[in-house]
Amino acid sequence: MFVQQDDRSAPNSKSQKPKSSSLPRAILRNRFSPSKSLDFSTWFFENLYKIVTIAILISTVAAVFLLRNISDSANFICYRSPVRQPETIHFPQINYDSIVPITDTTTPYSKFRSEQWIIVSVSDYPSDSLKKLLKIKGWQVLAVGNSKTPPDWNLKGTIFLSLDEQAKLGFRIVDYLPYDSYVRKTVGYLFAIQHGAKKIFDFDDRGELIDDNISKHFDIELVNQKSKKETILQYNHDNPNRTVANPYIHFGQRSVWPRGLPLENVGEIEHEEHYNEVLGGNQFIQQGISNGLPDIDSVFYFTRKQNQEPFDIKFDEHAPKVAFPQGIMVPVNSFNTIFHYSAFWGLMLPVSISSMASDVLRGYWAQRLLWEIGGYVVVYPPTVHRDDRIESYPFAEEKDLHVNVGNLIKFLGSWRSNKTGLFEKILELSYVMGKEGFWSEKDVKFTAAWIQDLISVGYLQPRLMGFDLDRLKRGVVSHGDRKDFVPQKLPSVYLGVEETSTVNYEIGNLVRWRKNFGNVVLIMFCNGDVERTALEWRLLYGRVFKSVIILSDKKNHELVVEEGKLDHLYKQLPRLFERFESADGFMFLQDDTVLNYWNLVQADKTKLWITNKVSRSWSTVPYDGNKEFYGKQAEMVKKVVSSMPAHLQVSYKEHTVIHDSSLTICNSEVFYIPRRLVVDFVDLVNLVGDLDIHQKVAIPMFFIAMDSPRNFDSVFNKMVYKRKPALNVSTSFYSPHAPAVHPLRVSNEEEFIKLIRVMAAGDPMLLDLV
Ligand SMILES: *[C@@H]1O[C@H](CO)[C@@H](O)[C@H](O)[C@H]1NC(C)=O
Ligand SMILES: *[C@@H]1O[C@H](CO)[C@@H](O)[C@H](O)[C@H]1NC(C)=O
Ligand SMILES: *[C@@H]1O[C@H](CO)[C@@H](O)[C@H](O)[C@H]1NC(C)=O
Ligand SMILES: *[C@@H]1O[C@H](CO)[C@@H](O)[C@H](O)[C@H]1NC(C)=O
Repeated sequence: MFVQQDDRSAPNSKSQKPKSSSLPRAILRNRFSPSKSLDFSTWFFENLYKIVTIAILISTVAAVFLLRNISDSANFICYRSPVRQPETIHFPQINYDSIVPITDTTTPYSKFRSEQWIIVSVSDYPSDSLKKLLKIKGWQVLAVGNSKTPPDWNLKGTIFLSLDEQAKLGFRIVDYLPYDSYVRKTVGYLFAIQHGAKKIFDFDDRGELIDDNISKHFDIELVNQKSKKETILQYNHDNPNRTVANPYIHFGQRSVWPRGLPLENVGEIEHEEHYNEVLGGNQFIQQGISNGLPDIDSVFYFTRKQNQEPFDIKFDEHAPKVAFPQGIMVPVNSFNTIFHYSAFWGLMLPVSISSMASDVLRGYWAQRLLWEIGGYVVVYPPTVHRDDRIESYPFAEEKDLHVNVGNLIKFLGSWRSNKTGLFEKILELSYVMGKEGFWSEKDVKFTAAWIQDLISVGYLQPRLMGFDLDRLKRGVVSHGDRKDFVPQKLPSVYLGVEETSTVNYEIGNLVRWRKNFGNVVLIMFCNGDVERTALEWRLLYGRVFKSVIILSDKKNHELVVEEGKLDHLYKQLPRLFERFESADGFMFLQDDTVLNYWNLVQADKTKLWITNKVSRSWSTVPYDGNKEFYGKQAEMVKKVVSSMPAHLQVSYKEHTVIHDSSLTICNSEVFYIPRRLVVDFVDLVNLVGDLDIHQKVAIPMFFIAMDSPRNFDSVFNKMVYKRKPALNVSTSFYSPHAPAVHPLRVSNEEEFIKLIRVMAAGDPMLLDLV
């Protein structure tokens, strides 16, 4: 809503996109893999209620419920099945020799030429800031309409392209464009190139250009001698693992991040230790920053906005512009961005993803290709000011952003192509991105149409620069050109107040928890309805743990819930352990138990943790003979114990008074296994083999065999443990001081919100919920 003026229709604008297919959503969801994208190491959580509610809204679950209510099971199946089928994507063939020129024969501007264009999308009558743009000398303003634009739109000095006029221009891409979206700007880019463009300022009509002067902020002339010799500060590439960076830190706002930055990176708030330098001249894409309301995402907007006070964020206007080396990306948008001729091919706004993700994905896609021609992106100090008009924010329109960008950046960093021409590389990249599910086949075809249209309007592709990205990645660092620059720390918007030490403390806490558990995998078994809770559990624990694996009676492909049987779950654990060979350890948790992770930091991650001192969880039960359940279990336990290798058997026997009449059981609500004992655990599971030993019996047996209870970490000794399972969520006995609380049953979103509210006592970042 703030970022692109067109989609003023708020989160339910799905229905207003007649031309966009529903397929990409499905594909994109499939990339929601547990080990990668669920890794939210962020502090965006304070306003979870809204996020969760909206996330729920946009998830398949909502759609599935909807269809269920219609109670048409055939429909239900039809809806779901395409989701699982990978799309077969065909590589589009372009016959480069038979592309005929397209000239403007339908508008009054057929003879008009201008080298410099400002391109905006308009959905409404001309704004004041748009009128001010007309004062800028030497730049032609082009306004691209869509289905929401008033038919009598007119502003003297501006070229306006209505839907009708766009259709008459003869471009191939027009067939792919949604009617009601700003992404129709793509027509405008082609029109400008057709009419002599050498520079395009991709702009938004709600931004006020500071000082009404474009050349004052950006590098408009790249070829002249002066700018050729200029050196530009550049992010260092010492850490080859860094693939993306938050430029707002450089410009003084550490706790703000631009729309399109992967959420797992927003917690990286350290500034550069040192910079490098790069010779100017190839900054073909130039991204400006906006004061006031910067280009932020809805997560930021919802989590920081306390009241109806508008945002007014100021960036450091004196910080030098900064370049991004090949290998490190930065979010690029479509409202404050200069494209030079050499990067015009990178203007195409993809059509098969949500509109708020379109320019961001374009930016990453284009940056990767930009490296192939030796270009790079430079970010400039504030160039525009936007007022925060406090409209609603379209989380749904951003969804492809939050799920996907982290994976996309990694993917792009590793992408290599043997093609010899840039256009061929562009098409190949679009194709593999389609195959990988980052967008759908529609965008693959769209790219082919775009390339042909570019050729038709006379665009000449730049030459490739045969540089070796792999060598670069190995980190050949020359220390000669180190440059120091220490970014300012400007007053920040944080819940409407200036940054305080409390805030730093809270962020510090989350970072500390994350540091402690960032390499521990949480394996969670859900007894409740996963469709209403899986996403929430992931959001809650995913910020702290390396990964959250969710198991339940029933598999749910879309929510990445795996099938598991609680009664024998231990038998499944070795398979899960295998997936995370470098994890420090594995925490197991049932969903009726809440983990107060802030109280677990002191526990020793090399020890076993279990509820062995919690009498209601861990107990000894008598049995009589081998007829009844416990008797049979005990028989099998004896069998396993007798086959245990020495170290396990010794430990087990030392700590179990083997009676023929009692058996140790543990309800196994929560336990932790360190890396060093994983091998023993796996051996024990193998010893059990096909025996029908129950989880409650197997877990305590394993624990006692793996190590002496004296060596168990005592962290769970003080957990709150009530016997009565609550029918609904009763938080009366919840204590933020306990390491864990049982039972606390969460079966839907509302109960989850209640839980979050009480948990805020321990994690104050949750305080401002609702
Ligand atoms: C715009 O800024 C540039 C660079 O600072 C300056 O040379 C030029 O005169 C300015 N133009 C106007 C119209 O003020
Ligand atoms: C980069 O990642 C690899 C693999 O995860 C790791 O071994 C290496 O230490 C990392 N390098 C830096 C500089 O962090
Ligand atoms: C590029 O060429 C090399 C050697 O000719 C080949 O091994 C490799 O598979 C090719 N890669 C792609 C993506 O085509
Ligand atoms: C929760 O359950 C108790 C009894 O177990 C009942 O009195 C209460 O009304 C229930 N609350 C809600 C919100 O359902």
